[in-house]
Amino acid sequence: MFQFRSLFTRLMVTFFVITLCIMLILGILLSTFFESFIMETRKEELIREGGAISQYIGLYLTGFIDTRILHYQYQIIDRFLGTTIWVTDERGNIWSSHNSTLLEEVDWENQKVTIDEFVQVLEGNTITLEGRFGESFPEPMLTVGMPLKINERIRGTIFLHSPIQGLNRTLRNTYQSIWRSAILTSLLSLLLSFIISRRFSKPLTEMNIISREIATGNFKRRVKVKTKDEVGQLAVNFNAMADSLEKLESMRRSFVANVSHELRSPLTSMKGYIQGVLDHTIPVEDQDKYLKIALDETERMNRLINELLDLSQIETGQFSMDIRVVDINEIIRRVLISKEDCINDRGMEVEVDFEKDVCMVEGDPDRLQQVIINLLDNAIKHNRDGGLITLKTWLHKDHVYVKVADQGSGINKEEIPHLWEPFYQIDKSRTRKKEGTGLGLSIVKKIIEAHEQNIWLNSEEGKGSAFIFSLKAVKKT
Ligand SMILES: Nc1ncnc2c1ncn2[C@@H]1O[C@H](COP(=O)(O)OP(=O)(O)OP(=O)(O)O)[C@@H](O)[C@H]1O
Ligand SMILES: [Mg+2]
Repeated sequence: MFQFRSLFTRLMVTFFVITLCIMLILGILLSTFFESFIMETRKEELIREGGAISQYIGLYLTGFIDTRILHYQYQIIDRFLGTTIWVTDERGNIWSSHNSTLLEEVDWENQKVTIDEFVQVLEGNTITLEGRFGESFPEPMLTVGMPLKINERIRGTIFLHSPIQGLNRTLRNTYQSIWRSAILTSLLSLLLSFIISRRFSKPLTEMNIISREIATGNFKRRVKVKTKDEVGQLAVNFNAMADSLEKLESMRRSFVANVSHELRSPLTSMKGYIQGVLDHTIPVEDQDKYLKIALDETERMNRLINELLDLSQIETGQFSMDIRVVDINEIIRRVLISKEDCINDRGMEVEVDFEKDVCMVEGDPDRLQQVIINLLDNAIKHNRDGGLITLKTWLHKDHVYVKVADQGSGINKEEIPHLWEPFYQIDKSRTRKKEGTGLGLSIVKKIIEAHEQNIWLNSEEGKGSAFIFSLKAVKKT
């Protein structure tokens, strides 16, 4: 089951790898997005705070607020952003500052800002820098520098420094939650891929096992069908195939058994009679009689073998049909004449009901004759003495229908579907006396099917049977 090349593992690995890739890409995208997002937000905050400071400095310089209030404002900003604040004059000397509580205590006042970008700030630009700001800080800082404007004039600069480390901590937390949920989702997807892959592969694996069993001759097991999708349909068809294989196999077995049985009984009786003649157990005056019986048996065997040959040829499709336009009424007439003696012997009457004198159909004349002989034979065999046999043909739309009916024993409804099976005989003990092998109707059905037509049976037990088959009509031009 867990072979690497099995459908299950392939499906599972595919599903899982796809989810993993999606998670990875999503994780990377989200992380980069957050990194720049947090950086940008921090810059904006610093710039906003710088604006506020510049207002306070203005107020301080004009005497509205004192140093205490100014530093109080610095502290608020520091608590919020962890910021070191420098305020310089136009030459870069720091005259007011605040040291971030996150860093070591340093006295910044009277120090000088010497970086190259100072000039840009003094010209009125706001700049952002990342790094240790020369050697001023022990760790990397995000620095925002902006001009200090009082009454629309640039009077100096404001620098705000915020430790990047602090930002990294926020980022790390974000990364962690992103990756944690990615791992969780991946695990969930592993579970789901397992369930889905199993659902897909299970019926296929089952079919695989069962088909192997069928190949060894065990037809008992079937696939359990749960879904209605293609796999479900395959399973349904697979079961149907197993059903028909099983049926075919049992038919083959009983066919072989029947054939051997049917061949053995005439052979045994022939052997007995010939032996009797040879060792004189049968008196000379009776020899002719018994040899005649033996001859009858050979004829019976001959007939059986011919029928079997026909049946197998039809079944294997080797049977060539000589389709022509023939008059089915004429065929019926000819068969009827050949059976006249049998019919008269048992005092039966025949009713012939042809819609038209000539009824042209498409078919193989010899095979159609075989059909009529078989059906008429059966009708005679099973009719009651003195009963009526009806032969009827009629045209309906594109078809000609032929009916052969008797007033005999009729056939039980439950037996009807089996009649067409080779060797099937109702009440074997009774029919045995009347001879026959039970191949007649199966050959009839096969011939009619080879004509792409149908045969039906209407029968009522005790009242008689009527076999009706269709043929393709040929309209006279
Ligand atoms: N007209 C009928 N009335 C009653 N039963 C019939 C009729 N035709 C067929 N059957 C039943 O169907 C069985 C199968 O018929 P089928 O023609 O295949 O075999 P058969 O007549 O016994 O042998 P065969 O035709 O090979 O000589 C018969 O054994 C008989 O029991
Ligand atoms: Mg028959």
